[in-house]
Amino acid sequence: MFETLDMAPPDSILGLSEAFHKDPRPHKINLSVGVFIDDHGRTPILASVKEAERRLLESEHSKGYLPMAGLPEYDRQVRRLLLDGDTDRPAVAVQTPGGTGALRVAADFLQGKFPAARVWCSHPTWANHPNIFASAGLTVQRYDYCDAAHRQLDLDALLKSLEQAAPGDVICLHACCHNPTGIDPDEDQWRQIAELLSRRRLLPLVDFAYQGFGDGLLEDTLGLRELLKTCDELLVCSSFSKNFGLYSERVGALTLVAREPHALASALSHVKTSVRTNYSNPPRHGAAIVATILGDEDLHHVWQRELAGMRDRIHDMRRLFIERMRARGVPHDFSFMLQHRGMFSLSGLTHLQVDELRSQHALYIVGSGRINVAGMTHDNMDRLCDAIAAVFK
Ligand SMILES: Cc1ncc(COP(=O)(O)O)c(C=O)c1O
Repeated sequence: MFETLDMAPPDSILGLSEAFHKDPRPHKINLSVGVFIDDHGRTPILASVKEAERRLLESEHSKGYLPMAGLPEYDRQVRRLLLDGDTDRPAVAVQTPGGTGALRVAADFLQGKFPAARVWCSHPTWANHPNIFASAGLTVQRYDYCDAAHRQLDLDALLKSLEQAAPGDVICLHACCHNPTGIDPDEDQWRQIAELLSRRRLLPLVDFAYQGFGDGLLEDTLGLRELLKTCDELLVCSSFSKNFGLYSERVGALTLVAREPHALASALSHVKTSVRTNYSNPPRHGAAIVATILGDEDLHHVWQRELAGMRDRIHDMRRLFIERMRARGVPHDFSFMLQHRGMFSLSGLTHLQVDELRSQHALYIVGSGRINVAGMTHDNMDRLCDAIAAVFK
């Protein structure tokens, strides 16, 4: 049977990473894959994580299975992080393997119980979003997000396309640090989006993969708070890969929010069915680290400082990049990238330029022109700016 198969197309981003690793050129630079890099070019383990792991190593007594919904303490801490003390709202956080696991469990739950619901993704969005929803059997639609030059949110177009959604459809929104554009709605724009979702009886599915990478842990819940005010029910898919640097531990959460406790209990029972048929119960280690850090005041502070350090570093790299490109007199103003939040920006580089950057300069950028700003360092900045300036000549 296997002999009848053609090769599956390579993943657009992970495929690029493989090519990067095989590239023998010593000065290669990778601005494609979505991981945080420090100024030494490494993806570090946070000190708060190391300390939590040390404590866990001493205190763990069993490797027995977790419940389908994961660690109860993790549920409490994740809800605190998302809902910031709004304990009245019926909500439960189900521990999942990464943010991708949360999205897949949500997709299976929706497909199982609301198969007619269509899922609307922003155009553009994280490349895996439509694939996850479609492979669960859901119909995917897209809504407009930003203007043609990808410089800012096109709210009118966004609202107009979402007016086409039918009641009961699901709207996938990026809570902050929109991937790939880096463009987030402001408070008033979130209010208008939330009002439309509530009026049209649409279900928000909020992808929260970068909490704390935008303006701060609480600041980044701006959109979520607007949605909570107007929408009766929500799904939130958190990833702790980036903000805890726990990429390989696969730690995330699917949080269900309802108006009524009985509705929450019913939804949770079906989500558990989806967990059971996917992977039965989640892996412990990553979630235990997160729960240990969030549940300990001192460790929480250490983590918040480390997170602020990552956020500030990305912002500094944005400033430095814009400054150095301006100094090279390139006929493309990159200053709009300073308004962007998170690791990514759609740079405006064309497919042709991206190809030339890879083949001639060993600089790897996603075909859409998405740049991972966190891949820039003081050491590689001049080299990458020279390469980008060269493709504008
Ligand atoms: C927007 C978005 N959602 C979800 C994820 C998935 O995160 P995880 O690696 O935790 O599965 C990512 C990862 O890049 C992402 O960018």
